[in-house]
Amino acid sequence: MKIGILSSGGDCPGINATIRGVGKTAIMHYNMEVIGIHSGFSGILKKDIQVLDERSLSGILNLGGTILGTSREKAFRKLLISGDGEHSSAIKRQYHHMGLDCIVCIGGNGTQKTAHILSELGLNIVGVPKTIDNDVWGTDITFGFDTAVNIATEAIDRLHSTASSHKRVMVVEVMGHHAGWIALYAGMAGGADVILLPELGYDLNRINTDIVNRSRRGKPYSIVVVAEGVKTVDKKRPADFFTQAIEQATGLETRETVLGYTQRGGNPSPFDRNLATRLGGHATELIARGEFGCMVCIKGDRVDAIPLSEVAGKLRTVTPGHDLVIQGKRMGISFG
Ligand code: F6P
Repeated sequence: MKIGILSSGGDCPGINATIRGVGKTAIMHYNMEVIGIHSGFSGILKKDIQVLDERSLSGILNLGGTILGTSREKAFRKLLISGDGEHSSAIKRQYHHMGLDCIVCIGGNGTQKTAHILSELGLNIVGVPKTIDNDVWGTDITFGFDTAVNIATEAIDRLHSTASSHKRVMVVEVMGHHAGWIALYAGMAGGADVILLPELGYDLNRINTDIVNRSRRGKPYSIVVVAEGVKTVDKKRPADFFTQAIEQATGLETRETVLGYTQRGGNPSPFDRNLATRLGGHATELIARGEFGCMVCIKGDRVDAIPLSEVAGKLRTVTPGHDLVIQGKRMGISFG
C-alpha cells in the first residue's frame, strides 16, 4: 500500500512524533510506501510531496512544529463544498495520480471536518486528533495538550513571585478559543485564585468581590487565569479587559500576561510523545485492516476508532460538573 500523511491547522507539539509513528510502523511493520504531503490539504492539489523513509523519519520524535508544514483548512473546505465540484474532482484526480491508498489527516476539529468531506468523496481517510486545546470530539485527550498545560503551569508558577512580592493581581491569558481545558488544567495545577472558562461565563462583580475578600483574609495578591475565548462586553482581549476592570473596581495594582504561541511551540512532553506514537501506530493498523473514514481516539487508556461522521462539526468542551471544577470550587477557587 502507499499512504500519504498531512498535518493541517495550527502547529502543535507531537505532530512529528505522530508522523514518525505512522511512517515507521507503515514502513517497518507493514512494508508500505509513505509520502508526506506539505502544507496541509492544499499540498494534495499542488502535489507538493516528499517521500518519507526511515532516514527522513529519524530524529523528529522530540521536534516541535511539523516537518510537513501546515495551513489553516477553512478556505480549502469552502472551495471543496462550493457548488461547481471542480475542486473535489481535482482532489480526487491528484489522489489517484499519486497512487495513494489512504491519506492520514493529523489535525483538530476543522481538519477532521475536512477529512470527513474527503472521505464522503470516496477517498480513503484516517484522522488523527491533534490540538493543544484538547477540544476534539470523540477522544478523551489530544496530544499537545499536556505540553501546553506544562508550559502554562510553569508560567503561572513564575508569575506567583511577582504577584506576591508586589502584592499585585496578575491576569494570565492562555489559549483555548472555544474550550477552557488549558485554563482549567493549568489554572488548577498553578494554584490560580480565579479561573475563567468560555463554557462557564462569569459575573465581574463576583470576581472583584472574591479578589477583595482574599485581600481582606490576608492574601494581598491574586492570580487570575483566563482562556482567550472568554467573551468580554467590548470584545477586548480577555487579558486587557479583566486587568482594567479588576484594577478599577478593586483598587489593587493589576498586570497582564498573554502566553500566546509559546504554548504550542517547542518540544512535546514525554506524555505527548508517547500518546502521538500510539495514535500514529494505531492509525497505520487501521489502514492495514482497510478501515477508513474514521479517526483514532483515546477511550480511557485504550486506543480506539470513531467514524469521522460522528466527529465532524462537534466540540468537546468543559462541563460545570467536571471534577476539577467541583473540587476547585469546594476549595474556594473562583470560577467567576
Ligand atoms: O491551536 C489552537 C489554537 O491555539 C487556539 O487556541 C487559538 O485560538 C488558535 O490556535 C490560534 O492560532 P492561529 O493564529 O494559528 O490561527
